[in-house]
Amino acid sequence: MAATSDQAAEQITEAVLHNLAGTGDARLGEILQALVRHLHAFAREVRLTEPEWMAGIEFLTAVGQACTDTRQEFILLSDTHGLSALVDVLTQDTPAGATESTVLGPFYLPGSPARANGESMAVHDPATPAVIRGRVLALDGTALAGATIDVWQTDSSGFYAVQQPGTQPEDNLRGVYTTDAEGRYELVTVRPVEYEVPTDGPVGDLLLAEGRHAWRAAHIHAIVSCPGYRRVVTHLFDGDRGYLDSDAVFGVKPSLVRTFTPASADDGSTVCTLENDFVLVPEQG
Ligand code: BEZ
Ligand code: FE
Repeated sequence: MAATSDQAAEQITEAVLHNLAGTGDARLGEILQALVRHLHAFAREVRLTEPEWMAGIEFLTAVGQACTDTRQEFILLSDTHGLSALVDVLTQDTPAGATESTVLGPFYLPGSPARANGESMAVHDPATPAVIRGRVLALDGTALAGATIDVWQTDSSGFYAVQQPGTQPEDNLRGVYTTDAEGRYELVTVRPVEYEVPTDGPVGDLLLAEGRHAWRAAHIHAIVSCPGYRRVVTHLFDGDRGYLDSDAVFGVKPSLVRTFTPASADDGSTVCTLENDFVLVPEQG
């Protein structure tokens, strides 16, 4: 770029930053100024052309248009490009011994049914049953009675109930379990499988263009809450399944990988069990 156009480009960046300096909310101003600085630097670095700028606009428009009440293509874009995992790592300062957080993903639906300990949330699934039991503890080892574990996962074909209305019952493989007086819970489900994040939208097209796969390592989602403690949004990963090293959304943390133990049930069928404690950090801690 000629020196004069370099100067003109610099002046545009400076003018925008100057205009943003009066943003009423100081934090919003800080975020917007940094965003403009980085966006302009990005355009300079790659020497963004007008057709490329328009392709970007059209892509983001398509991402917005793919969003519905039950599909969040922007979260998928953020997840598949590591922004969600980065924000998680930057904002969660989990002390050693506490359960680590990971990405929420786009398929969490509040309002799952309350389930009794020992009740199966697999309303409709022929896959290998799994029993996950343990306690919710405070960092100092105190058992937490009345803690809730809001759980959701895909069925064995790799889809969440929310993705398949009319095929799966809406409460399939989701539920809220509550710990008993000793802080114990027992959730009954199916062993999780690897699955592909949705590839039938603009983010799928982008993954294809990037030459990347869309597989997530097999996991069960959980949000663990208890009054007085920090809520943790986390996963339990199945350590015997694939994609732990190449999860499409960069969500795997070694401390979240578990071993499910297969055992024979009385009727000869296989049941997997997993002993797992969740450990919460006090709100002031
Ligand atoms: C999920 O684990 O549900 C998920 C996370 C990120 C993108 C798509 C799905
Ligand atoms: Fe998931």
